[in-house]
Amino acid sequence: MDHAFEPALPAVPLPACVRFLLLRLSLAACLLPLAAAAAPADSPGDGAGPQPITLVVPFAARGPTDTVARALAAAMAEQSGYPVVVENRSGAGGTAGAAWVARAAPDGLTLLLHHIGMATAPTLYRSLPYDPRRDFEPVGRIVDVPMTLVARPGFPAVTLADAVRHIRRHQDSIVVAYAGLGAASHLCGLLLSVSLDVDLIQVPYRGTGPALVDLQAGQADLMCDQTTNTGEPIRAGRIRGLGVTSAHRLAGLPGLPTAAEAGIAGLELSIWHGLFAPRGTPPEILQRLTQALQAALASPVFVRSMNDMQVVIASREQSSPAGLRTLLAAEIARWAPIIRKAGQYAD
Ligand code: MLT
Repeated sequence: MDHAFEPALPAVPLPACVRFLLLRLSLAACLLPLAAAAAPADSPGDGAGPQPITLVVPFAARGPTDTVARALAAAMAEQSGYPVVVENRSGAGGTAGAAWVARAAPDGLTLLLHHIGMATAPTLYRSLPYDPRRDFEPVGRIVDVPMTLVARPGFPAVTLADAVRHIRRHQDSIVVAYAGLGAASHLCGLLLSVSLDVDLIQVPYRGTGPALVDLQAGQADLMCDQTTNTGEPIRAGRIRGLGVTSAHRLAGLPGLPTAAEAGIAGLELSIWHGLFAPRGTPPEILQRLTQALQAALASPVFVRSMNDMQVVIASREQSSPAGLRTLLAAEIARWAPIIRKAGQYAD
């Protein structure tokens, strides 16, 4: 038994029953964290049972990040027996929601579920109201999601190779939907434009959830988005799948070539997602949150739902605070020169 949990019994002679009582109390203290893994203490004095943990998603509902968040929330709640809810705070390519969590109380009850956008924002937004390395405590990496290049029904190209030719010829009239500067859909569009040396018309949305609705309705021509949002509508024929940005074809979308197969260089991209807590969240709460995250990542329901969407679940090492901290630093360094070369800034 870890002596950290053994209460410092006072030196004064105590009846055996009192000493026993104190021991039971310390055992209860150490079991509670294990039982309720992610459960920080009830908010003082509300007495109405535990306050839920809120996962803040910085994009609109019914989009790819929201899909990962709702699956994770359900798995964390199921594993820990603790209520976990999702709250969408969208805007400014995901930086509005991140800024909100950066200012939240460091009590383990408000967390940010964000992605690669966490790494691009410091370069894209020169007056960003937070620093992702300084103002957040990494809890752990969650998943990596491949991306797809998709088109509206009736788009005048069926294959990716045809689409490349059509894009080059008609770049002044092609409308690309995306979720704001720094979003995954923006970065993918940026790599595509650089690779094809074209300048396309980009229309921002609060998330690719609402953008997908417009694409299906023919209000936009193209979008680069995550399989968590596009896999099902591609298979259902509501949008046209053109290609994938993964190194290899995806089992669930076998007919879609990789960008490399279609001769598009430099368009290999998958979107990592991570969980972050506000700076100052106590280490013991962070540890419990990481335990709850890792238990959720291993839960059969979560594993099945992610596999169905071609999503790669983070390993134990990747889903640790150190794993996410290392990734974030490396990704900020990777994207800064790409963004500076493109010269696209949000402000
Ligand atoms: C979303 O959830 O809407 C997406 O993650 C947006 C994006 O990053 O492209």
